[in-house]
Amino acid sequence: MSEKQWWNEAVIYQIYPRSFKDSNNDGIGDLKGIIQKLDYIESLGVNTLWINPIVSSNQVDNGYDVIDYKHIDSLFGTEEDVDTFFSEMKRRGLKVIYDLPLNHTSIAHPWFKEALKGPDNPYRNYYIWADASDDGTYPNNWTAAFGGSAWSKEMNGDQYFLHTFKKEMPDLNWDHEPLRKEMIGILNYLMDKGVDGFRLDAFIYIDVDKEFPDKEADQETQDVIEYGGNLKQYLNELNQALTDHENEIFLIGEATSADAEKIREYTNNSILDGVITLQHFTDDETLKIEELPQMNQHVPLDFEKFKRIQKEIQESLKDKCGPILFWNNHDHPRAPQKYGDMDNYRDETAKMMATLLYLQKGIPIIYYGEEVGMNNAWFDDPSNISDNSAFNFYQEAKAFGWSHDKIMENLNLTVRDASRGIMQWTDEKGSGFTENAAPWIISNQEAVYNVKDQEESESSILNYYRKLIKLKKTDLFTKGDWKLLNTQDKIYAYERTFEDITGRVYCNFSAEEAEVTIDMPFNTDSLVLSTHEADLTNGKIVLPAYSAFVFVSE
Ligand code: GLC
Ligand code: CA
Repeated sequence: MSEKQWWNEAVIYQIYPRSFKDSNNDGIGDLKGIIQKLDYIESLGVNTLWINPIVSSNQVDNGYDVIDYKHIDSLFGTEEDVDTFFSEMKRRGLKVIYDLPLNHTSIAHPWFKEALKGPDNPYRNYYIWADASDDGTYPNNWTAAFGGSAWSKEMNGDQYFLHTFKKEMPDLNWDHEPLRKEMIGILNYLMDKGVDGFRLDAFIYIDVDKEFPDKEADQETQDVIEYGGNLKQYLNELNQALTDHENEIFLIGEATSADAEKIREYTNNSILDGVITLQHFTDDETLKIEELPQMNQHVPLDFEKFKRIQKEIQESLKDKCGPILFWNNHDHPRAPQKYGDMDNYRDETAKMMATLLYLQKGIPIIYYGEEVGMNNAWFDDPSNISDNSAFNFYQEAKAFGWSHDKIMENLNLTVRDASRGIMQWTDEKGSGFTENAAPWIISNQEAVYNVKDQEESESSILNYYRKLIKLKKTDLFTKGDWKLLNTQDKIYAYERTFEDITGRVYCNFSAEEAEVTIDMPFNTDSLVLSTHEADLTNGKIVLPAYSAFVFVSE
């Protein structure tokens, strides 16, 4: 790890462009809106932006179904806006991470339109085709991540194309060299524009077994990919293109099922610099009932397991710049409302959870709105939720005897739409997100839990985040060693050490007050950040419900 790599000190802010700021009053956030808010973003102290895809798309999966990798979708702005965006970002010294859905395109991509013309078309091999199985149905039993078979039959021919996600998103054939070259050309184009890093969307799926073997009944799509031959080679080629570029490019891969060992493998030899996994969301699966679909049942965190996984990931990446640290993103309901207590301890929950995660070793990703304690968009009707599974779940749960409210709570705390609500800028109608258009997604406006109100209060979540980010950027919390301290169940405490500086972080992830012994000479003078005033006596500290305390001694 070279000392100079900029991402070692990155604090990332993730924006879901549709929901951040609407500049032209059509109810959809856009790039001009983001540009208007760059002062705000800068004021948080973050130094990097990751924006979900804004390139031309069929919008079946909000940007992940790409039609043109190089140019902005008119929904989000113009090429001129893109240039302004990059020059404004550079002027402020902020880095940009682009989201790159490299596993698939849209069915409306010109390559796919060509490919559909038949087996002799030069673009046919850009995608993955197979004949029907002997019984005349799907080539094999592979299922798509959003339900149904992973295969669809072409309209004007007899073959099937593979789609790991939706049927409108055919998988690209990475085995085919011209496709890989094309992708490298796209990366170069974007790097020349000013992109400083890429998030490789769902990258593990680009390596496909061309024998198309059936999967065992209990085999999940997600865990069949061995990191071997092809995937490694494809990533190596990509990586070579990045190394050849004059700028230092950060590469994060999304591999939701990766455990500590897999992350190590992926980040070895710096092929990837970081991995986004979901393994630290340790939902207590044992609490789910068998009678209903598992995916939409909301259960709390298994906290012991959470600690164990955090420890594994922290320790396995200690000689690197650490794991990617995040509670929220566009694919999961906002975590404070899911795992904490946003009804009774909203400020405390939001502050404590951020402290717990982000002061560990690694790169934080803050998802827009969490810095003001934003809750999930709350649906009252399952047919407004875009996940196909939601409506199904509603009907099954209703037949099983669950009340409407109970079902909706389970849905709102499990579906990804919930995380994509509009940014809460003010408490006015439209939340300062849009003027008077109807936002594209269900929305509400809240007093206090918005930027305007929180700017005015020194003790707000927003101002706490600013202090937290500032602290995060110190050597101790960026480079320091990490050690988990042994504590009772719902207490999460760790130590950071850098040269002769020691930091201690104590968090209470419950509504029960607790007390822990601090076996070091820390006192109120060394308290650098906390959710409450410290009650420290005889080497013990009282930890109120959902509290966090950070000590640093030199
Ligand atoms: C990733 C994205 C998700 C998208 C999927 C398909 O998991 O985060 O939002 O739907 O890939 O591109
Ligand atoms: Ca707009």
